Amino acid sequence: MDMQVIPARSEDYNLKDYQKTRENFKWDDVNKHFTWNETGKVNIAYEALDRHAENPAKKDKVALLYSAPGREERLTFADLSKQSNRFANVLKKHDVNKGDRVFLFMPRSPEFYAAFFGILKTGAIAGPLFEAFMEQAVRDRLQDSEAKVLITTPALIERVPQDELPKLETIILVGESGVAHTYIDYHREMAGASDEFDIEWVNLEDGMLLHYTSGSTGKPKGVYHVHNAMIQHYATGEWVLDLKEDDVYWCTADPGWVTGTSYGIFAPLLHGVTNVIRGGRFTPDDWYETLEKNEVTVWYTAPTALRMLVSHGEGALRKYNLTSLRHIMSVGEPLNPEVVTWGLKAFNLRIHDTWWMTETGAQLIVNLPTLEIRPGSMGKPIPGIEASIVDHEGNELPPNQMGNLAIKEGWPAMMRQIWNNPGKYESYFINGWYVSGDSAYRDEDGYFWFQGRLDDVINTSGERVGPFEVESKLIEHPAVAEAGVIGKPHPERGEIIKAFISLNEGYEKSDELLEEIRQFVKTGLSAHAAPREIEIRDSIPKTRSGKIMRRLLKSWELGLPTGDTSTLEE
Ligand code: WT7
Repeated sequence: MDMQVIPARSEDYNLKDYQKTRENFKWDDVNKHFTWNETGKVNIAYEALDRHAENPAKKDKVALLYSAPGREERLTFADLSKQSNRFANVLKKHDVNKGDRVFLFMPRSPEFYAAFFGILKTGAIAGPLFEAFMEQAVRDRLQDSEAKVLITTPALIERVPQDELPKLETIILVGESGVAHTYIDYHREMAGASDEFDIEWVNLEDGMLLHYTSGSTGKPKGVYHVHNAMIQHYATGEWVLDLKEDDVYWCTADPGWVTGTSYGIFAPLLHGVTNVIRGGRFTPDDWYETLEKNEVTVWYTAPTALRMLVSHGEGALRKYNLTSLRHIMSVGEPLNPEVVTWGLKAFNLRIHDTWWMTETGAQLIVNLPTLEIRPGSMGKPIPGIEASIVDHEGNELPPNQMGNLAIKEGWPAMMRQIWNNPGKYESYFINGWYVSGDSAYRDEDGYFWFQGRLDDVINTSGERVGPFEVESKLIEHPAVAEAGVIGKPHPERGEIIKAFISLNEGYEKSDELLEEIRQFVKTGLSAHAAPREIEIRDSIPKTRSGKIMRRLLKSWELGLPTGDTSTLEE
Protein backbone atom coordinates (compact mmCIF):
# COMPACT_ATOMS: atom_id res chain seq x y z
CA MET A 1 0.00 0.00 0.00
CA ASP A 2 1.43 3.38 -0.95
CA MET A 3 -0.85 5.29 1.38
CA GLN A 4 0.91 7.81 3.56
CA VAL A 5 0.51 7.03 7.24
CA ILE A 6 1.54 9.20 10.16
CA PRO A 7 2.98 7.18 13.02
CA ALA A 8 2.09 7.93 16.62
CA ARG A 9 4.72 10.03 18.35
CA SER A 10 6.56 8.88 21.42
CA GLU A 11 4.74 10.97 24.06
CA ASP A 12 3.35 9.42 27.18
CA TYR A 13 -0.30 9.20 26.20
CA ASN A 14 -3.04 8.30 28.68
CA LEU A 15 -4.23 5.41 26.54
CA LYS A 16 -1.21 3.28 25.91
CA ASP A 17 -2.46 0.06 24.40
CA TYR A 18 -5.56 0.40 22.25
CA GLN A 19 -6.05 -3.30 21.55
CA LYS A 20 -5.58 -4.43 25.11
CA THR A 21 -7.83 -1.71 26.52
CA ARG A 22 -10.53 -2.66 24.01
CA GLU A 23 -10.37 -6.33 24.76
CA ASN A 24 -10.74 -6.04 28.53
CA PHE A 25 -12.98 -3.02 28.59
CA LYS A 26 -16.16 -2.59 30.66
CA TRP A 27 -17.93 0.79 30.99
CA ASP A 28 -18.58 -0.08 34.63
CA ASP A 29 -14.87 0.29 35.30
CA VAL A 30 -15.02 3.97 34.35
CA ASN A 31 -17.65 4.40 37.07
CA LYS A 32 -14.96 3.93 39.68
CA HIS A 33 -13.69 7.45 39.02
CA PHE A 34 -16.89 8.98 40.34
CA THR A 35 -18.41 9.45 43.74
CA TRP A 36 -21.68 7.82 42.79
CA ASN A 37 -19.82 4.60 42.70
CA GLU A 38 -19.84 4.83 46.51
CA THR A 39 -23.02 6.79 47.18
CA GLY A 40 -25.38 5.84 44.37
CA LYS A 41 -26.12 9.57 44.05
CA VAL A 42 -25.32 11.46 40.94
CA ASN A 43 -25.43 14.86 39.31
CA ILE A 44 -23.09 15.79 36.48
CA ALA A 45 -22.75 19.32 37.92
CA TYR A 46 -21.42 17.87 41.15
CA GLU A 47 -18.87 15.73 39.32
CA ALA A 48 -17.75 18.59 37.07
CA LEU A 49 -17.59 21.37 39.70
CA ASP A 50 -18.44 20.71 43.34
CA ARG A 51 -16.25 17.64 43.65
CA HIS A 52 -13.23 19.78 42.73
CA ALA A 53 -14.46 22.73 44.80
CA GLU A 54 -14.53 20.43 47.86
CA ASN A 55 -10.97 19.34 47.20
CA PRO A 56 -8.54 21.73 48.97
CA ALA A 57 -5.87 20.99 46.36
CA LYS A 58 -8.17 21.84 43.50
CA LYS A 59 -10.68 24.45 44.61
CA ASP A 60 -8.58 27.47 43.66
CA LYS A 61 -7.54 26.09 40.32
CA VAL A 62 -8.88 28.03 37.33
CA ALA A 63 -11.87 26.23 35.81
CA LEU A 64 -12.77 28.85 33.19
CA LEU A 65 -10.28 31.14 31.52
CA TYR A 66 -12.71 33.50 29.82
CA SER A 67 -12.04 36.19 27.28
CA ALA A 68 -14.15 38.15 24.85
CA PRO A 69 -13.61 41.55 23.25
CA GLY A 70 -13.57 43.92 26.24
CA ARG A 71 -13.88 41.33 29.01
CA GLU A 72 -11.55 38.88 30.69
CA GLU A 73 -12.29 36.72 33.72
CA ARG A 74 -10.90 33.74 35.55
CA LEU A 75 -13.26 31.56 37.54
CA THR A 76 -11.92 28.92 39.89
CA PHE A 77 -13.75 25.68 40.54
CA ALA A 78 -14.85 27.17 43.87
CA ASP A 79 -16.13 30.35 42.15
CA LEU A 80 -18.13 28.47 39.55
CA SER A 81 -19.45 26.03 42.11
CA LYS A 82 -20.78 28.90 44.25
CA GLN A 83 -22.15 30.92 41.36
CA SER A 84 -24.04 27.96 40.00
CA ASN A 85 -25.41 27.36 43.50
CA ARG A 86 -26.69 30.91 43.52
CA PHE A 87 -28.32 30.45 40.18
CA ALA A 88 -29.90 27.17 41.26
CA ASN A 89 -31.43 29.07 44.18
CA VAL A 90 -32.76 31.71 41.79
CA LEU A 91 -34.39 28.97 39.72
CA LYS A 92 -35.93 27.33 42.80
CA LYS A 93 -37.46 30.69 43.71
CA HIS A 94 -39.13 30.60 40.31
CA ASP A 95 -40.46 27.13 40.89
CA VAL A 96 -38.08 25.13 38.71
CA ASN A 97 -38.15 21.43 39.47
CA LYS A 98 -36.51 18.25 38.31
CA GLY A 99 -37.32 17.52 34.66
CA ASP A 100 -38.43 21.08 33.79
CA ARG A 101 -36.85 22.51 30.64
CA VAL A 102 -34.80 25.65 31.18
CA PHE A 103 -33.33 27.24 28.06
CA LEU A 104 -30.33 29.49 27.56
CA PHE A 105 -30.22 31.86 24.61
CA MET A 106 -27.13 33.99 25.04
CA PRO A 107 -23.49 34.30 24.04
CA ARG A 108 -20.71 32.54 25.88
CA SER A 109 -20.04 34.45 29.11
CA PRO A 110 -19.32 33.63 32.77
CA GLU A 111 -23.06 34.09 33.41
CA PHE A 112 -23.85 31.43 30.85
CA TYR A 113 -21.75 28.81 32.65
CA ALA A 114 -23.09 29.70 36.10
CA ALA A 115 -26.64 29.45 34.75
CA PHE A 116 -25.96 26.24 32.84
CA PHE A 117 -24.66 24.42 35.91
CA GLY A 118 -27.32 26.04 38.10
CA ILE A 119 -29.96 24.43 35.89
CA LEU A 120 -28.33 21.01 36.17
CA LYS A 121 -28.05 21.35 39.94
CA THR A 122 -31.84 21.67 40.22
CA GLY A 123 -32.27 18.47 38.21
CA ALA A 124 -33.84 20.45 35.38
CA ILE A 125 -32.97 19.88 31.73
CA ALA A 126 -30.79 22.52 30.09
CA GLY A 127 -31.47 23.63 26.51
CA PRO A 128 -28.69 25.82 25.12
CA LEU A 129 -29.58 27.73 21.95
CA PHE A 130 -27.05 29.06 19.46
CA GLU A 131 -26.98 32.85 19.73
CA ALA A 132 -27.31 33.31 15.94
CA PHE A 133 -30.81 31.80 15.92
CA MET A 134 -33.58 34.11 14.77
CA GLU A 135 -37.24 34.12 15.75
CA GLN A 136 -38.41 31.02 13.88
CA ALA A 137 -35.60 28.83 15.18
CA VAL A 138 -36.12 30.07 18.74
CA ARG A 139 -39.90 29.60 18.55
CA ASP A 140 -39.67 26.01 17.21
CA ARG A 141 -37.36 24.92 20.02
CA LEU A 142 -39.08 26.66 22.92
CA GLN A 143 -42.49 25.45 21.77
CA ASP A 144 -41.48 21.84 21.20
CA SER A 145 -39.66 21.55 24.53
CA GLU A 146 -42.37 23.50 26.42
CA ALA A 147 -39.62 25.45 28.13
CA LYS A 148 -40.63 26.94 31.47
CA VAL A 149 -37.76 29.39 31.96
CA LEU A 150 -35.51 31.19 29.50
CA ILE A 151 -32.26 32.99 30.27
CA THR A 152 -31.35 35.50 27.60
CA THR A 153 -30.02 39.01 27.03
CA PRO A 154 -31.65 42.36 26.20
CA ALA A 155 -30.14 42.17 22.71
CA LEU A 156 -31.65 38.76 21.98
CA ILE A 157 -35.04 39.09 23.70
CA GLU A 158 -36.63 40.59 20.60
CA ARG A 159 -36.17 37.26 18.82
CA VAL A 160 -38.28 35.51 21.46
CA PRO A 161 -41.95 35.50 20.36
CA GLN A 162 -43.38 35.56 23.87
CA ASP A 163 -47.07 35.65 22.83
CA GLU A 164 -46.62 32.30 21.13
CA LEU A 165 -45.01 30.61 24.11
CA PRO A 166 -47.78 30.01 26.66
CA LYS A 167 -45.64 27.55 28.67
CA LEU A 168 -42.81 30.03 29.17
CA GLU A 169 -43.37 31.37 32.70
CA THR A 170 -40.18 33.26 33.46
CA ILE A 171 -37.57 35.16 31.48
CA ILE A 172 -34.31 36.05 33.17
CA LEU A 173 -32.32 38.80 31.48
CA VAL A 174 -28.55 39.10 31.74
CA GLY A 175 -27.70 42.78 31.30
CA GLU A 176 -29.28 46.21 31.41
CA SER A 177 -32.64 46.24 29.71
CA GLY A 178 -34.53 49.49 30.31
CA VAL A 179 -37.68 47.37 30.62
CA ALA A 180 -36.36 45.40 33.56
CA HIS A 181 -39.64 45.47 35.47
CA THR A 182 -41.25 42.96 33.09
CA TYR A 183 -38.36 40.53 33.37
CA ILE A 184 -36.26 39.00 36.11
CA ASP A 185 -32.87 40.67 36.40
CA TYR A 186 -30.05 38.12 36.53
CA HIS A 187 -27.55 40.17 38.48
CA ARG A 188 -30.06 41.46 41.03
CA GLU A 189 -31.39 37.96 41.70
CA MET A 190 -27.90 36.51 41.95
CA ALA A 191 -26.85 39.18 44.43
CA GLY A 192 -29.73 38.23 46.70
CA ALA A 193 -29.24 34.45 46.46
CA SER A 194 -27.33 32.15 48.79
CA ASP A 195 -24.20 30.49 47.45
CA GLU A 196 -25.15 27.26 49.15
CA PHE A 197 -27.53 24.86 47.52
CA ASP A 198 -28.79 21.36 48.20
CA ILE A 199 -28.05 19.73 44.90
CA GLU A 200 -30.81 17.56 43.41
CA TRP A 201 -29.43 14.03 43.27
CA VAL A 202 -30.78 12.20 40.27
CA ASN A 203 -30.50 8.82 38.59
CA LEU A 204 -27.96 8.15 35.89
CA GLU A 205 -30.81 7.79 33.41
CA ASP A 206 -32.44 11.14 34.28
CA GLY A 207 -32.37 13.90 31.65
CA MET A 208 -29.84 16.72 31.68
CA LEU A 209 -29.71 18.22 28.21
CA LEU A 210 -31.77 18.87 25.09
CA HIS A 211 -29.91 19.68 21.88
CA TYR A 212 -32.04 20.41 18.84
CA THR A 213 -30.71 19.14 15.55
CA SER A 214 -31.87 18.86 11.96
CA GLY A 215 -32.92 15.95 9.79
CA SER A 216 -33.88 15.99 6.13
CA THR A 217 -37.59 16.39 6.90
CA GLY A 218 -39.66 18.14 9.52
CA LYS A 219 -38.81 20.59 12.25
CA PRO A 220 -35.65 20.34 14.37
CA LYS A 221 -35.67 17.42 16.80
CA GLY A 222 -34.92 17.57 20.50
CA VAL A 223 -32.11 15.11 21.20
CA TYR A 224 -32.38 14.14 24.87
CA HIS A 225 -29.26 13.26 26.86
CA VAL A 226 -28.98 11.88 30.39
CA HIS A 227 -26.49 12.26 33.25
CA ASN A 228 -25.02 8.84 32.39
CA ALA A 229 -23.29 10.50 29.40
CA MET A 230 -20.61 11.74 31.78
CA ILE A 231 -19.04 8.29 31.88
CA GLN A 232 -18.17 8.61 28.22
CA HIS A 233 -17.27 12.31 28.44
CA TYR A 234 -14.82 11.34 31.12
CA ALA A 235 -13.40 8.31 29.30
CA THR A 236 -12.91 10.14 26.00
CA GLY A 237 -11.46 13.12 27.90
CA GLU A 238 -8.79 10.71 29.05
CA TRP A 239 -8.19 8.67 25.87
CA VAL A 240 -8.99 11.04 23.00
CA LEU A 241 -8.44 14.53 24.45
CA ASP A 242 -5.52 12.99 26.37
CA LEU A 243 -6.17 15.43 29.24
CA LYS A 244 -3.63 15.73 32.02
CA GLU A 245 -3.70 17.75 35.23
CA ASP A 246 -1.71 20.74 33.94
CA ASP A 247 -3.32 21.05 30.57
CA VAL A 248 -4.93 24.24 29.30
CA TYR A 249 -7.70 23.04 27.03
CA TRP A 250 -9.65 24.92 24.39
CA CYS A 251 -12.67 23.75 22.42
CA THR A 252 -13.81 26.35 19.88
CA ALA A 253 -17.41 25.10 19.59
CA ASP A 254 -20.37 27.11 20.88
CA PRO A 255 -22.40 25.39 23.64
CA GLY A 256 -25.45 25.73 21.39
CA TRP A 257 -24.04 22.66 19.62
CA VAL A 258 -23.26 19.33 21.24
CA THR A 259 -19.49 19.67 20.80
CA GLY A 260 -19.70 22.83 22.86
CA THR A 261 -21.32 21.02 25.80
CA SER A 262 -19.83 17.50 25.75
CA TYR A 263 -16.32 18.77 25.00
CA GLY A 264 -16.58 22.53 25.55
CA ILE A 265 -17.85 22.02 29.12
CA PHE A 266 -18.13 18.50 30.49
CA ALA A 267 -15.04 16.55 29.44
CA PRO A 268 -12.46 19.10 30.64
CA LEU A 269 -14.28 20.01 33.86
CA LEU A 270 -14.98 16.39 34.81
CA HIS A 271 -11.19 16.02 34.65
CA GLY A 272 -10.67 19.23 36.63
CA VAL A 273 -8.72 20.76 33.73
CA THR A 274 -8.56 24.51 33.01
CA ASN A 275 -10.96 25.32 30.18
CA VAL A 276 -10.42 28.29 27.86
CA ILE A 277 -13.59 30.08 26.75
CA ARG A 278 -13.43 32.59 23.95
CA GLY A 279 -16.60 34.58 23.30
CA GLY A 280 -17.53 36.31 20.06
CA ARG A 281 -16.79 35.36 16.46
CA PHE A 282 -13.25 34.40 15.51
CA THR A 283 -10.88 35.33 12.72
CA PRO A 284 -7.73 33.28 12.07
CA ASP A 285 -5.69 35.81 14.03
CA ASP A 286 -8.09 35.50 16.99
CA TRP A 287 -7.50 31.74 16.97
CA TYR A 288 -3.74 32.08 16.99
CA GLU A 289 -3.89 34.84 19.58
CA THR A 290 -6.11 32.79 21.90
CA LEU A 291 -3.80 29.77 21.60
CA GLU A 292 -0.72 31.88 22.29
CA LYS A 293 -2.06 34.10 25.06
CA ASN A 294 -3.53 31.24 27.10
CA GLU A 295 -0.70 28.84 26.33
CA VAL A 296 -3.23 26.29 25.20
CA THR A 297 -1.92 22.72 25.24
CA VAL A 298 -4.90 20.74 23.90
CA TRP A 299 -7.08 22.16 21.13
CA TYR A 300 -10.36 20.80 19.73
CA THR A 301 -11.64 22.56 16.62
CA ALA A 302 -13.29 22.04 13.22
CA PRO A 303 -12.10 21.44 9.66
CA THR A 304 -13.57 24.74 8.48
CA ALA A 305 -11.47 26.61 11.02
CA LEU A 306 -8.36 24.68 10.04
CA ARG A 307 -8.98 25.28 6.34
CA MET A 308 -9.29 28.99 7.08
CA LEU A 309 -5.93 28.87 8.83
CA VAL A 310 -4.40 27.11 5.85
CA SER A 311 -5.59 29.83 3.49
CA HIS A 312 -4.55 32.53 5.94
CA GLY A 313 -0.96 31.63 5.13
CA GLU A 314 2.33 30.77 6.79
CA GLY A 315 3.31 34.38 7.40
CA ALA A 316 0.47 34.93 9.84
CA LEU A 317 1.22 31.68 11.62
CA ARG A 318 4.86 32.59 12.19
CA LYS A 319 3.89 35.74 14.11
CA TYR A 320 2.73 33.60 17.01
CA ASN A 321 4.45 31.40 19.52
CA LEU A 322 2.40 28.23 19.65
CA THR A 323 4.97 25.95 21.24
CA SER A 324 2.69 25.13 24.17
CA LEU A 325 0.34 23.17 21.86
CA ARG A 326 0.79 19.43 22.16
CA HIS A 327 -2.46 17.86 20.91
CA ILE A 328 -5.00 18.90 18.24
CA MET A 329 -8.36 17.35 17.32
CA SER A 330 -11.04 18.09 14.78
CA VAL A 331 -14.74 17.26 14.42
CA GLY A 332 -17.90 17.99 12.49
CA GLU A 333 -17.03 17.45 8.82
CA PRO A 334 -14.56 15.50 6.77
CA LEU A 335 -11.00 16.51 7.61
CA ASN A 336 -9.10 16.83 4.35
CA PRO A 337 -5.83 14.86 4.17
CA GLU A 338 -4.10 18.05 2.94
CA VAL A 339 -5.02 19.78 6.19
CA VAL A 340 -3.52 16.91 8.19
CA THR A 341 -0.33 17.24 6.14
CA TRP A 342 -0.35 21.02 6.66
CA GLY A 343 -0.76 20.49 10.43
CA LEU A 344 2.39 18.39 10.54
CA LYS A 345 4.33 21.20 8.95
CA ALA A 346 2.65 24.16 10.64
CA PHE A 347 2.51 22.86 14.23
CA ASN A 348 4.75 19.83 14.00
CA LEU A 349 1.69 17.98 15.35
CA ARG A 350 -0.78 15.46 14.08
CA ILE A 351 -4.39 16.62 13.74
CA HIS A 352 -6.70 13.94 15.11
CA ASP A 353 -10.05 13.59 13.37
CA THR A 354 -12.99 12.46 15.54
CA TRP A 355 -16.43 11.31 14.40
CA TRP A 356 -19.70 11.48 16.30
CA MET A 357 -23.08 13.20 16.19
CA THR A 358 -25.52 15.16 18.33
CA GLU A 359 -27.43 11.91 18.82
CA THR A 360 -24.38 9.95 19.96
CA GLY A 361 -23.58 12.45 22.74
CA ALA A 362 -19.86 11.74 22.68
CA GLN A 363 -17.01 10.64 20.43
CA LEU A 364 -17.25 7.16 18.92
CA ILE A 365 -14.79 6.76 16.04
CA VAL A 366 -11.54 8.64 16.46
CA ASN A 367 -7.90 8.98 15.66
CA LEU A 368 -6.36 8.09 19.00
CA PRO A 369 -3.00 9.61 19.92
CA THR A 370 -1.59 6.10 20.30
CA LEU A 371 -2.60 4.91 16.82
CA GLU A 372 -1.10 5.71 13.43
CA ILE A 373 -3.12 8.21 11.41
CA ARG A 374 -4.25 7.42 7.89
CA PRO A 375 -5.05 10.91 6.59
CA GLY A 376 -8.65 11.06 5.40
CA SER A 377 -9.81 8.33 7.80
CA MET A 378 -11.93 9.04 10.89
CA GLY A 379 -9.94 6.37 12.73
CA LYS A 380 -11.20 3.51 14.86
CA PRO A 381 -13.95 3.00 17.45
CA ILE A 382 -12.98 3.84 21.02
CA PRO A 383 -12.89 1.04 23.61
CA GLY A 384 -16.45 0.05 24.56
CA ILE A 385 -17.84 0.86 21.11
CA GLU A 386 -18.67 -1.56 18.34
CA ALA A 387 -18.97 0.12 14.95
CA SER A 388 -19.77 -1.39 11.60
CA ILE A 389 -21.07 -0.77 8.10
CA VAL A 390 -24.58 -2.11 7.50
CA ASP A 391 -27.06 -2.33 4.66
CA HIS A 392 -30.62 -0.98 4.90
CA GLU A 393 -31.77 -4.07 6.81
CA GLY A 394 -29.03 -3.80 9.39
CA ASN A 395 -26.86 -6.62 8.01
CA GLU A 396 -23.12 -6.08 8.38
CA LEU A 397 -21.13 -5.56 5.19
CA PRO A 398 -17.60 -6.81 4.52
CA PRO A 399 -14.51 -4.53 4.50
CA ASN A 400 -14.15 -1.93 1.75
CA GLN A 401 -17.87 -2.01 0.95
CA MET A 402 -19.75 1.25 1.30
CA GLY A 403 -22.88 1.34 3.43
CA ASN A 404 -24.50 2.99 6.42
CA LEU A 405 -22.18 3.68 9.35
CA ALA A 406 -23.74 2.02 12.40
CA ILE A 407 -23.01 1.59 16.11
CA LYS A 408 -24.14 -1.30 18.30
CA GLU A 409 -26.77 0.35 20.47
CA GLY A 410 -26.38 1.05 24.19
CA TRP A 411 -23.32 3.23 24.91
CA PRO A 412 -23.33 5.62 27.90
CA ALA A 413 -23.72 8.95 26.04
CA MET A 414 -26.29 7.73 23.51
CA MET A 415 -29.45 9.87 23.28
CA ARG A 416 -32.33 8.32 25.20
CA GLN A 417 -35.25 10.03 23.45
CA ILE A 418 -36.21 12.39 20.71
CA TRP A 419 -38.29 14.82 22.72
CA ASN A 420 -41.99 14.24 22.19
CA ASN A 421 -41.32 12.01 19.20
CA PRO A 422 -40.89 8.30 20.06
CA GLY A 423 -41.47 7.26 16.45
CA LYS A 424 -38.54 9.31 15.26
CA TYR A 425 -36.36 7.85 18.01
CA GLU A 426 -37.24 4.29 17.01
CA SER A 427 -36.46 5.04 13.37
CA TYR A 428 -32.75 5.39 14.18
CA PHE A 429 -32.42 1.74 15.20
CA ILE A 430 -32.39 -1.34 13.00
CA ASN A 431 -31.56 -4.84 14.12
CA GLY A 432 -29.73 -3.66 17.27
CA TRP A 433 -27.73 -1.02 15.42
CA TYR A 434 -27.95 2.76 15.72
CA VAL A 435 -27.83 3.77 12.07
CA SER A 436 -26.11 7.11 11.57
CA GLY A 437 -27.21 8.20 8.08
CA ASP A 438 -23.55 8.68 7.11
CA SER A 439 -22.15 6.53 4.34
CA ALA A 440 -18.72 5.10 5.00
CA TYR A 441 -16.60 2.01 4.59
CA ARG A 442 -14.17 0.17 6.84
CA ASP A 443 -10.81 -1.00 5.52
CA GLU A 444 -9.22 -4.39 6.30
CA ASP A 445 -7.39 -2.91 9.28
CA GLY A 446 -10.51 -1.50 10.90
CA TYR A 447 -10.07 2.17 9.93
CA PHE A 448 -13.33 3.94 8.99
CA TRP A 449 -13.57 6.25 5.97
CA PHE A 450 -16.37 8.82 5.69
CA GLN A 451 -18.03 9.16 2.27
CA GLY A 452 -21.01 11.50 2.70
CA ARG A 453 -24.53 11.77 4.03
CA LEU A 454 -27.13 9.27 2.86
CA ASP A 455 -29.93 11.79 3.36
CA ASP A 456 -30.29 15.44 2.33
CA VAL A 457 -28.90 16.92 5.53
CA ILE A 458 -26.46 19.77 4.79
CA ASN A 459 -23.18 20.32 6.61
CA THR A 460 -22.01 23.91 6.18
CA SER A 461 -18.89 24.91 8.11
CA GLY A 462 -19.57 21.98 10.43
CA GLU A 463 -23.09 23.18 11.20
CA ARG A 464 -25.94 20.84 10.44
CA VAL A 465 -28.83 22.32 8.49
CA GLY A 466 -32.08 20.63 7.53
CA PRO A 467 -33.17 21.57 3.98
CA PHE A 468 -36.83 21.40 4.99
CA GLU A 469 -36.47 24.22 7.52
CA VAL A 470 -34.85 26.48 4.95
CA GLU A 471 -37.43 25.59 2.28
CA SER A 472 -40.26 26.29 4.73
CA LYS A 473 -38.82 29.69 5.52
CA LEU A 474 -38.24 30.53 1.86
CA ILE A 475 -41.84 29.89 0.87
CA GLU A 476 -43.03 32.22 3.63
CA HIS A 477 -41.61 35.03 1.49
CA PRO A 478 -44.42 36.48 -0.69
CA ALA A 479 -42.35 36.20 -3.88
CA VAL A 480 -41.48 32.52 -3.46
CA ALA A 481 -43.82 29.87 -4.85
CA GLU A 482 -41.70 26.76 -4.34
CA ALA A 483 -38.25 26.02 -2.98
CA GLY A 484 -35.75 23.16 -3.00
CA VAL A 485 -32.57 23.40 -0.95
CA ILE A 486 -29.33 21.44 -1.29
CA GLY A 487 -25.74 21.48 -0.05
CA LYS A 488 -23.28 22.50 -2.76
CA PRO A 489 -19.63 21.45 -2.30
CA HIS A 490 -17.36 24.33 -1.28
CA PRO A 491 -13.58 24.21 -0.74
CA GLU A 492 -13.49 26.04 2.59
CA ARG A 493 -16.92 25.51 4.13
CA GLY A 494 -17.43 21.89 3.10
CA GLU A 495 -20.83 22.74 1.69
CA ILE A 496 -22.76 25.93 1.16
CA ILE A 497 -26.53 26.18 1.05
CA LYS A 498 -28.00 26.59 -2.41
CA ALA A 499 -31.69 27.26 -2.95
CA PHE A 500 -33.68 26.72 -6.11
CA ILE A 501 -36.90 28.72 -6.10
CA SER A 502 -39.79 29.48 -8.39
CA LEU A 503 -41.49 32.86 -8.20
CA ASN A 504 -45.11 33.73 -7.67
CA GLU A 505 -47.04 35.52 -10.39
CA GLY A 506 -46.23 39.22 -10.49
CA TYR A 507 -42.62 38.93 -9.31
CA GLU A 508 -39.67 39.52 -11.61
CA LYS A 509 -36.19 38.19 -11.12
CA SER A 510 -33.74 40.84 -9.89
CA ASP A 511 -30.58 40.93 -7.76
CA GLU A 512 -32.42 43.04 -5.20
CA LEU A 513 -35.17 40.46 -4.88
CA LEU A 514 -32.68 37.62 -4.44
CA GLU A 515 -30.84 39.55 -1.76
CA GLU A 516 -34.12 40.37 -0.04
CA ILE A 517 -35.06 36.68 0.02
CA ARG A 518 -31.65 35.77 1.40
CA GLN A 519 -32.00 38.35 4.14
CA PHE A 520 -35.48 37.06 4.87
CA VAL A 521 -34.06 33.64 5.80
CA LYS A 522 -31.08 35.14 7.55
CA THR A 523 -33.13 37.37 9.83
CA GLY A 524 -36.09 35.01 10.19
CA LEU A 525 -34.37 31.65 10.75
CA SER A 526 -30.65 32.07 11.32
CA ALA A 527 -27.55 33.39 9.60
CA HIS A 528 -25.90 30.02 9.07
CA ALA A 529 -29.06 28.64 7.39
CA ALA A 530 -29.37 31.44 4.81
CA PRO A 531 -28.67 30.27 1.25
CA ARG A 532 -25.47 31.72 -0.20
CA GLU A 533 -26.75 30.99 -3.68
CA ILE A 534 -30.30 31.28 -4.98
CA GLU A 535 -31.28 30.20 -8.46
CA ILE A 536 -34.65 30.91 -10.01
CA ARG A 537 -36.35 28.18 -12.03
CA ASP A 538 -39.74 28.01 -13.71
CA SER A 539 -40.66 25.12 -11.45
CA ILE A 540 -39.08 22.91 -8.80
CA PRO A 541 -38.95 19.17 -9.56
CA LYS A 542 -41.27 17.13 -7.35
CA THR A 543 -42.35 13.53 -7.12
CA ARG A 544 -45.95 12.70 -7.90
CA SER A 545 -46.57 12.58 -4.16
CA GLY A 546 -45.30 16.16 -3.92
CA LYS A 547 -41.84 15.65 -2.40
CA ILE A 548 -39.13 18.02 -3.59
CA MET A 549 -36.55 15.99 -5.55
CA ARG A 550 -33.42 17.41 -3.95
CA ARG A 551 -31.33 14.63 -5.41
CA LEU A 552 -32.22 15.79 -8.91
CA LEU A 553 -31.42 19.40 -8.03
CA LYS A 554 -28.05 18.25 -6.78
CA SER A 555 -27.34 16.29 -9.95
CA TRP A 556 -28.19 19.33 -12.03
CA GLU A 557 -25.94 21.48 -9.87
CA LEU A 558 -23.01 19.09 -10.14
CA GLY A 559 -23.60 18.24 -13.78
CA LEU A 560 -24.09 14.57 -12.93
CA PRO A 561 -26.36 12.06 -14.63
CA THR A 562 -29.86 12.46 -13.20
CA GLY A 563 -30.52 8.78 -12.56
CA ASP A 564 -34.01 7.42 -12.07
CA THR A 565 -36.59 10.16 -12.53
CA SER A 566 -39.56 7.85 -13.03
CA THR A 567 -41.36 9.33 -10.03
CA LEU A 568 -40.96 12.87 -11.35
CA GLU A 569 -44.20 14.78 -11.71
CA GLU A 570 -44.85 16.09 -15.23
C1 WT7 B 1 -22.79 14.86 11.33
C2 WT7 B 1 -23.28 15.10 12.72
C3 WT7 B 1 -20.92 16.00 17.26
C4 WT7 B 1 -20.01 16.39 16.22
C5 WT7 B 1 -20.41 17.70 15.61
C6 WT7 B 1 -21.46 17.58 14.54
C7 WT7 B 1 -20.75 14.91 10.24
C8 WT7 B 1 -19.19 14.69 12.21
C9 WT7 B 1 -17.35 14.08 11.22
C10 WT7 B 1 -16.07 13.67 10.79
C11 WT7 B 1 -16.89 13.60 8.59
C12 WT7 B 1 -18.36 14.23 10.25
C13 WT7 B 1 -21.47 13.61 9.90
C14 WT7 B 1 -22.40 13.43 11.08
N1 WT7 B 1 -19.48 14.62 10.90
N2 WT7 B 1 -17.90 14.37 12.42
N3 WT7 B 1 -15.06 13.51 11.65
N4 WT7 B 1 -15.88 13.45 9.46
N5 WT7 B 1 -18.13 14.00 8.94
O1 WT7 B 1 -22.63 17.01 15.07
O2 WT7 B 1 -24.32 18.50 14.01
O3 WT7 B 1 -24.98 16.25 14.91
O4 WT7 B 1 -23.59 16.46 12.83
O5 WT7 B 1 -21.60 15.62 11.11
O6 WT7 B 1 -22.19 13.74 8.72
O7 WT7 B 1 -23.53 12.64 10.79
P1 WT7 B 1 -23.96 17.09 14.24
